[in-house]
Amino acid sequence: MRVLLTGGAGYIGAHVAVALLARGHDVVILDNFSNSKRAVLERIERIAGRAMPSYAVDLVDLSATADVFEREAIDGVVHLAGLKAVGESVEQPFRYYRNNLIGTLHLLEAMQRFGVSVLVFSSSATVYGDVSAPPFTETMPTAPTNPYGRTKRMIEQMLEDIAESRADVSFIALRYFNPVGAHESGLIGEDPAGAPNNLMPYVAQVAVGRRERLYIFGDDYPTPDGTGVRDYIHVMDLAEGHVRALEFAAERRGYDVFNLGTGRGASVLEVVRTFEAVSGREIPYVFAPRRPGDVAVSYADPSKAERLLGWRATRDLAAMCRDAWRFQVRHPYGIDVGTAAKGERS
Ligand SMILES: NC(=O)c1ccc[n+]([C@@H]2O[C@H](COP(=O)([O-])OP(=O)(O)OC[C@H]3O[C@@H](n4cnc5c(N)ncnc54)[C@H](O)[C@@H]3O)[C@@H](O)[C@H]2O)c1
Repeated sequence: MRVLLTGGAGYIGAHVAVALLARGHDVVILDNFSNSKRAVLERIERIAGRAMPSYAVDLVDLSATADVFEREAIDGVVHLAGLKAVGESVEQPFRYYRNNLIGTLHLLEAMQRFGVSVLVFSSSATVYGDVSAPPFTETMPTAPTNPYGRTKRMIEQMLEDIAESRADVSFIALRYFNPVGAHESGLIGEDPAGAPNNLMPYVAQVAVGRRERLYIFGDDYPTPDGTGVRDYIHVMDLAEGHVRALEFAAERRGYDVFNLGTGRGASVLEVVRTFEAVSGREIPYVFAPRRPGDVAVSYADPSKAERLLGWRATRDLAAMCRDAWRFQVRHPYGIDVGTAAKGERS
């Protein structure tokens, strides 16, 4: 298939591009580079050994988005473009609703105009909120607790409603748990601008000496060691899940939703200990108060994806830490950043 990959220069997008190309699909990347670097594109091509077209386009711009469909014969779309920081979404809800909802509406409009009917969308486990107990299954009630999570849930509902009203479309929402790690080449990985919002890149930056210590939010959760438990999934397992979902979507019609997780939770301290073991570095940490909105335990029931997509995560926590560490060692201050950024140490 010739696949339009929105957000393809981002962390997950770059890995999805590599997985699609490895499987023999053609990839066209659309990204506004608001949270990614253009240098990632050549790295994807280097890993894949193939070139791909890319467009610097903002999905909020409908005519620029439609132009991409005009120029490329697209068979299906993998839609990852979006803003994703929970805390930022609480401070700037308008920006999140505008970017994530309008961007998606424009993409759907362009798809309809050009007769493209297959879409895989990146949703999030955050849609489950804290009304149900893990393991989360796709049929459990959803109750996102912040504007970011609500944009994800609203988009799922949009997709479901449109699929209900039209016999020709095939839409799939993938609810990711906690993607971590990097491609084993060490050429692409999680490269956040500023202080990381997520655990693994923070741990990696402490290990490499870019930050002094890790702050662990909460040591009094009802978990075996008191720290929060999450379902970490290797980003290449996640990327391969997209390939399966896309191929599944191309064979059927309607709307469906799948968890992509391992089904196993790991605590913050377990991640720290595993990272120390694979990197040989000590990770100094201090405990800080719980963050509002954080749940104690979250992990997936991934059995639906295994049953219907024939997909299962295969890489363990040690592999996730090893691959994240390889990327960090190669790019201590990020892709294309020299040592001038060292003043950032905090
Ligand atoms: N990383 C996670 O932990 C996680 C978990 C669950 C879901 N997700 C979702 O997966 C998707 C990808 O996440 P990521 O971690 O790779 O984030 P990312 O920020 O690295 O990638 C998102 C990409 O989308 C681009 N983008 C944003 N708005 C755009 C717009 N209007 N038009 C064009 N491009 C735009 C950004 O420049 C970036 O390259 C996001 O939708 C995110 O919400 C991520």
